[in-house]
This record gives sequence, C-alpha cells and structure tokens, in this order.
Amino acid sequence: MDKLSIDGGFRLEGQIRISGAKNSALPILAGSLLTAEPVIISNAPHLHDVTTMIELLACLGVGVSLDERMNVEISAHHLNDLCAPYSLVKTMRASFLVLGPMLARYGEAEVSLPGGCAIGSRPVDQHLKGLECMGAEIEVSDGYVRARAPKGLVGNDIYMDVVTVGGTENLMMAATLAKGVTKIHNAACEPEIIDLGEFLRTLGAKVTGHGSPTITIEGVEKLHGGSYRVMPDRVEAGTYLIAAAVTAGKIRLRDVEPDTLGAVLDKLVQAGADIEVGEDWISLDMHGKRPKAVDIETAPYPGFPTDMQAQFMALNVVAEGTSTIHEKIFENRFMHVHEMNRLGANIELHGVSMAVVHGVEKLRAAPVMATDLRASSSLVLAALAAEGTTVIDRIYHIDRGYETIEEKLQQLGAQVRRVS
Ligand code: EPZ
Repeated sequence: MDKLSIDGGFRLEGQIRISGAKNSALPILAGSLLTAEPVIISNAPHLHDVTTMIELLACLGVGVSLDERMNVEISAHHLNDLCAPYSLVKTMRASFLVLGPMLARYGEAEVSLPGGCAIGSRPVDQHLKGLECMGAEIEVSDGYVRARAPKGLVGNDIYMDVVTVGGTENLMMAATLAKGVTKIHNAACEPEIIDLGEFLRTLGAKVTGHGSPTITIEGVEKLHGGSYRVMPDRVEAGTYLIAAAVTAGKIRLRDVEPDTLGAVLDKLVQAGADIEVGEDWISLDMHGKRPKAVDIETAPYPGFPTDMQAQFMALNVVAEGTSTIHEKIFENRFMHVHEMNRLGANIELHGVSMAVVHGVEKLRAAPVMATDLRASSSLVLAALAAEGTTVIDRIYHIDRGYETIEEKLQQLGAQVRRVS
C-alpha cells in the first residue's frame, strides 16, 4: 500500500497549475448518459474517482475513449445495461448520479444504494423524493433502488428538505428530459452545480437559475452532443493555498476561478495571508509569518465548504491563538483530529461536531494514517509544517481527489516521496 513520506519544515514557494474539478467532472460524466450523441469533456482530472465513473459508464455499454490530455469522448448511443452494480457504487458514492439520467432517458434504472461512508451516513432520500415527485415509481429492495417511469418523467415543483449537492444534480439531470417544467426549490448553489447546468445547456437543455436556490428546468424531447471544459478544482486550489500558509510560504496558482473560493480566501486573509487575485490566478504570501487562528463553521455554498474544514484545521493547529471549528454538514468529519494530535497538535473534541484548536508553535513528525480524502490532505499539510519525516499511510484516499500531488508539492520545493 502506497505511503507518502514528507520531510517537513520547509517554506513552500513557487507556482502550480490547478486541475479540473473532481466534483464537477463526476456529475458531468454521468450527465453524458442523457444523450445518444457524442460528448467531449476536457480538463477532467486524472484521478481514481474519475476512472471509476468512466468504468461505470463503460459497464453500462457507453463507448468511452481518452486521449493523452484526459479529453474524454463519450458516446452513450446505446446502453446494454441499466444497472449500476454494488461493486462499483460502493467504491464511490457519486456513482449514484447515473440514476437520474438513466431514468430520464430510458424510463427505468437500477442503481445500488451507496451504503456506508467514512464521513457520515449520507442518505439519498432527497434524490428519491425528487424523482417520485416527477412521477417515478421507486422500490428499494436487496440494497438496490429500482426506479421506473414507463411514460416518462413529468416536471413538478420539488422542495428539498435539506440542501444537497448530489440530490440537486441528480434531479437537474432527470428534469432535462421530463415533460413540462421542473422547479427545484432549496437547491444547492455550489459552483459545481453551475458547471453542471452550463454543461447541460451545451447539450440543449433548458436550465436557468443554477447557482441560486431555485433552479428551473423546462424539459426537452432530447439532448444533443457537445464539448465542455470542466471548471477548475476549488478544493485543490484551497488546499495548496493552505500548504503555503502553514509553511510561511508564497505561492501562485494558475488556472483557478477565484470567485469560487470567496469564503476560503476571506478566512486566509483573516489568518494573515496577503492575497492577490486575477481573472484566473491567485497568489498568497505569508511574508515568512506564522498564521493567526481563525474560527470556522462549515455551511452550504457560499458558506465555508466542508471539503476545506480538515485542511483549515491543519492551519489552525500551527497558528497563533485558539480557534473553534464547527462541522455542520457531515456528522463524522473529524477523523483527522486524532492523527493530528499524534503530530503534537493540541485539539479537543467537544461532541461530534465541534473542535477547539489551541495553536502550537511546532509539530513533530510521527507515523499517521489517512482515513478519507480531505482528512488525508490535511495530514499532508500538517506534515509539511512538522519537523522531521512524517510517513502517511493509506494514501490511496488522496489519489481520489488530488492529481499528481507529490509532483505539485515538489514543484513548490516540498520534500515529498511516494513509498510502498
Ligand atoms: C458532495 O457530496 C461532494 N461530492 C462532497 O465532496 C461534499 O463534501 C458535499 O457535496 C458537500 O459539499 C461530490 O460532489 C461528488 P450532499 P454529496 O448531498 O452530494 C445530507 C469530497 O471530499 N443529505 O450535499 O454526497 C447529507 O447526509 C466530497 O470531495 C440527506 O440528508 O453531499 C449531508 O449531511 C466528500 N439526504 C448533507 O445532506 C440526501 O438525500 C449534504 O450532502 C442527500 C444528502
């Protein structure tokens, strides 16, 4: 099993390019099932999760080809199976996003329930409620969701009980081919929702309001092919900004969308970072200083993203002062705390959703273990700031969401090696 070995204590400095967004590429790839015509997706990141989605599409009978620049050409002209099996869905929850598109186009679909997850229970009730609201008959048995709409889905007003990114995406896709108008109320407003909406419009879907809490979709008879470029990954960008902040460094990111990082940049400024932004770049300079502690409370977009909580904890761990971190989206997203404490951090847990972090001047290397994607990246950040050589085990988690992480860190002067 691969591990990362990191010699910490070096100031990071330099420039890197940010990859395409995983959480945008995944729904967009699922959305290509909505049309029989070819779709070309560019800027898809080279990540395990993206490969899993491509495998799932191939297993449904979709023609998929990739060139050396990760342009993905998809042809869902004919599907030979309408079932997403447990073996693939259990490895990646985003596989559940094929449900809406398959049901909308073929009038039936069978998708395994995703099952448990390291960061929380993550139910799919809102996805199912929305599809039922559009006239689907849904049966959940033997670990599978079987959905049918033999006469097609019918547009309706859908009121989401919780703000869900995946739920909003599944329903947006399903509604593109429904009869009539669908309004999704209390929709998620994440930038990845805007990206999916723009992709669907490229295929001829009539989507408006994406990025606001009410999304309107006027169903069309069919969608056509098209080419679409995936947006830059805001979580990857935020993670590298923190890598520079925890090492008192200086960094410039290329190919980013600064507007999608508002809450994160605001907290970095509060932490003492000097930040400049251009149309597609962000620079951060700590001027050699230690960061200041900042309080964090996660919330749906445009609030502070849960996907950046663990990384910001790594910053607070070495910051000057005491901070509180309140995780309000997932009920089990503090697994990095015990590992960070092994590195000499001083974090107290108060229940399952609140942590109090007393900043320490120095962390010391220790063997640690990654438990989920963002937890692993937070351990990389802590290791970069720690004195000595930290070995992080189970690094496969990080390959799900960070393209060539060791190469990018090396470009910034970090001493990082992958070892087995
Ligand atoms: C997406 O997951 C992201 N994944 C997650 O990123 C991200 O953490 C999350 O949104 C929140 O921003 C992808 O985009 C592939 P949700 P998703 O549905 O869609 C509850 C990462 O590290 N809920 O918005 O699964 C749920 O339990 C990952 O890259 C219901 O109650 O998240 C949670 O508490 C991890 N019923 C909250 O809503 C439902 O039917 C938000 O979940 C659906 C969700």
